[in-house]
Amino acid sequence: MKAFVTGIAGFIGAHVAQHLLDAGWQVCGIDDLSGGRIENVPEGAEFQQLDCNEPLDGVMQSFRPTAVFHLAAYAAEGLSHHIPVFNYQNNVVATANVLGAACRADVEHFVFTSSIAAYGHPESDQPFDEEMLCHPCDPYGIAKLTCEHHIRSVCDYFGGPQFTIFRPHNVFGPKQNIADPYRNVVGIFIRCALERKPFPIFGDGSQTRSFSYIDSVAASIAASPTTKDAANQTFNVGGDHPLSVRELGETLAEIMGVEPEFNFLPPRQEVQHAHADHTKVQSVFPAAFADEVDLRTGLERMVADVRQHPIADPTPCPSAIEIPEKLPPSWS
Ligand SMILES: NC(=O)c1ccc[n+]([C@@H]2O[C@H](COP(=O)([O-])OP(=O)(O)OC[C@H]3O[C@@H](n4cnc5c(N)ncnc54)[C@H](O)[C@@H]3O)[C@@H](O)[C@H]2O)c1
Repeated sequence: MKAFVTGIAGFIGAHVAQHLLDAGWQVCGIDDLSGGRIENVPEGAEFQQLDCNEPLDGVMQSFRPTAVFHLAAYAAEGLSHHIPVFNYQNNVVATANVLGAACRADVEHFVFTSSIAAYGHPESDQPFDEEMLCHPCDPYGIAKLTCEHHIRSVCDYFGGPQFTIFRPHNVFGPKQNIADPYRNVVGIFIRCALERKPFPIFGDGSQTRSFSYIDSVAASIAASPTTKDAANQTFNVGGDHPLSVRELGETLAEIMGVEPEFNFLPPRQEVQHAHADHTKVQSVFPAAFADEVDLRTGLERMVADVRQHPIADPTPCPSAIEIPEKLPPSWS
């Protein structure tokens, strides 16, 4: 079987590709390297540096994939308010382009990484489940939900390909970009610890997230085309244990042997508590969750991986700021 992976030089894409190679798939991936690193592309995978907005029929038709895993995106949720045109071009229009090429290449299965951001603000204190109505509250979440609707409608209208949509949240682990100041709080804190700088926190740090170690997330995404009950389904995927951002910082400081020091910034408009129910994904992909890694072990593994590489220069924002109003000063 052949898998075409967009965003293969990124964090989740690289892990998904590795799972696919381990399972005997032939893998071809593309990435524009705007946020990923060429070193992330697993050995054994073919690679082309390509933007998902470019014509993809050539590469898709010569490789003839069985399944397409579309993971490329710029996933900076908070910043998306300030770069809406870029966000919709890179995350929505590009998805339509990848899916169109997949349809023309007669792909059997299309896998898409949406996000918990599709839900927006919680309407109760219950964790989000897949049946809840979505009310995304930022351009990134709106883009992800739009892609979900587009994928369902295309697959329904044309009678295929089958699709599986994942809504991950706060995923972390080895290979993650820790040099992007606009996203990945775990990576931002690790980098600050290495540089002996205080950890930046918007507000008082009481906002909670369930941080998710990469293994079970990547394993379930990779297994979806060959898992019968995953066809034409949507799954939340990620960790189950809420932690405040401040507690995350304290835990990381302890692991890295530094004093926890915080730089509290004015609060930004964001979801205060975001948690998802994972009953469905755990029942359809039990093997992916058999050896789930706990938060502390996951953080230790990520720190150990980061320490093996030189600290990269900050990743530039892939777009000019379109709306500077209300841009947090720390991002200017
Ligand atoms: N990491 C998380 O916590 C999380 C949570 C929810 C959803 N997701 C989604 O999962 C997917 C993977 O995220 P990630 O954390 O691995 O991010 P990442 O930035 O590490 O990987 C994304 C990759 O896509 C590439 N890319 C971006 N735009 C591109 C384009 N137009 N053409 C080609 N390549 C492009 C980047 O260079 C990068 O290598 C994304 O769709 C993201 O929205 C991630």
